[in-house]
Amino acid sequence: MIKVLFVCLGNICRSPLAEGLFRKLTEDSNYSELISCDSCGTSSYHIGDLPDNRTRINAEKHGLILTHRGRQLSKEDFNEFDYILAMDSSNYENINFAKDKLGKIKAKIFLMRDFDKDDKGEDVPDPYYGGPEGFENVYRILKRSTEGFMEYLKQEHSF
Ligand code: 4NP
Repeated sequence: MIKVLFVCLGNICRSPLAEGLFRKLTEDSNYSELISCDSCGTSSYHIGDLPDNRTRINAEKHGLILTHRGRQLSKEDFNEFDYILAMDSSNYENINFAKDKLGKIKAKIFLMRDFDKDDKGEDVPDPYYGGPEGFENVYRILKRSTEGFMEYLKQEHSF
């Protein structure tokens, strides 16, 4: 099983949407036996919470029901998962800071937008303090980036 973990700050906006999009892609491609995914936050702010209302409304508009409950990144995650995908460079730095205390780990750590087919190398912007258009923008970025990541996995694991 290839195990993928999506990580943002709060685990209520970006990473649960990435998880929902990627799970749907996995199911639609008949790869559910091969790939599993989860999401979490670097912070403890929203442990146990459903995704933000604005994220859920936007996701439902696109046919996705998000039921994930917020949880914080743990040191076990670094050896439980094969891939850890950070939503922005701040998350990426925090993940690597935690990793550096652990010695050798299993997970490969990337920025989500390394896999954005149209626009590589930038952050998935944090929509929390903005309006609904920010949530739609995040949806579009994550749709492209999760698709790009699936293409990467297919090449990397030859399936
Ligand atoms: P997320 O967005 O990292 O995409 O889940 C945020 C959610 C909550 C907060 C910040 C960002 N917060 O400060 O509570």
